[in-house]
Amino acid sequence: MKQFLENLPKAELHLHIEGSLEPELMFEIGQRNGVKLPFASVEDVRAAYQFHNLQEFLDIYYQGANVLLYERDFYDMTMAYLRRCQQQNVIHAEIFFDPQTHTDRGVDIGVVINGICGALKDAENEWGMSSRLILCFLRHLSGEAAMETLLQALPYRDRIIGVGLDSSEVGHPPEKFKAAFDRAREEGFLTVAHAGEEGPPEYIWQALDLLKVSRIDHGVRCIEDNALVDRLIAEKMPLTVCPLSNIKLCVFEKMADHNLLQLLDRGVKVTVNSDDPAYFGGYMNENFLALHAALDLTQEQAASLVRNSFEASFVSESERAGFMNRLDAFLVANQ
Ligand code: ADE
Ligand code: ZN
Repeated sequence: MKQFLENLPKAELHLHIEGSLEPELMFEIGQRNGVKLPFASVEDVRAAYQFHNLQEFLDIYYQGANVLLYERDFYDMTMAYLRRCQQQNVIHAEIFFDPQTHTDRGVDIGVVINGICGALKDAENEWGMSSRLILCFLRHLSGEAAMETLLQALPYRDRIIGVGLDSSEVGHPPEKFKAAFDRAREEGFLTVAHAGEEGPPEYIWQALDLLKVSRIDHGVRCIEDNALVDRLIAEKMPLTVCPLSNIKLCVFEKMADHNLLQLLDRGVKVTVNSDDPAYFGGYMNENFLALHAALDLTQEQAASLVRNSFEASFVSESERAGFMNRLDAFLVANQ
């Protein structure tokens, strides 16, 4: 099973690039940029990764991003993540970035986008890595700030497939961002939003009705509302679920309590993703392996989960068909 899960061709649809910054690279970049970290060593950084909720994580995650100043920094961070994809048979990745985390420190949005996209292009040329980029608005900031960020990104629109919504969920409902999302869709962007991670099912309804999202990020709290689960099934609405993240941030106490397979069995289009792998103890394969260890994930269920990811990805129909062919060929060869 381990080999099956590791070799399975996969897509990742919920990955914050700033959350892929491993402590070793954080220190290296901090040193070359003369940015001091409030930790003495890589071990001290890892030891600090004990979280009781989303906010405790976010406080340390935004601090880590302070080392990122130049194009090369964003390139190195992105390339390190893409190498993990290559090692783990992740053949397509849709990558979130948080421009406001950087522009609010005086880093130009073009520096961020050029650095990330340089790595995406090199990985595509080097080993055929497929990717898309999604700009996330920070929901603890204002709706006006989100709109301003969207306008700053318009010169780079051809490199960005969609917009999303992340950061502190509770107290920052999707309705706060309706105007920015309306404008984003008018400009041709697809939309996604984190909802129902820590926030109530009501936030998922709002993401669907007001932000008109094509996917819900997390969404695991939908299970508290049967009418909502029925709607997600009827609309084939994908959920980008992040198992290890949910345990590290205490959304579920332990992996055996996670509802991902329950949702899959009920017919919800759930997918597996790593969220912030440098902080949560694993990339895609570690997430699949944890599901197998705690919930007896079967090969059939794993195949359904990756099929859902390819179906939910923001690619052309011919690219999707190519992914499905690779998956089918793998399944035939590994029966
Ligand atoms: N930013 C990075 N990871 C996040 C998560 N899991 N929820 C909300 N915002 C985030
Ligand atoms: Zn996330």
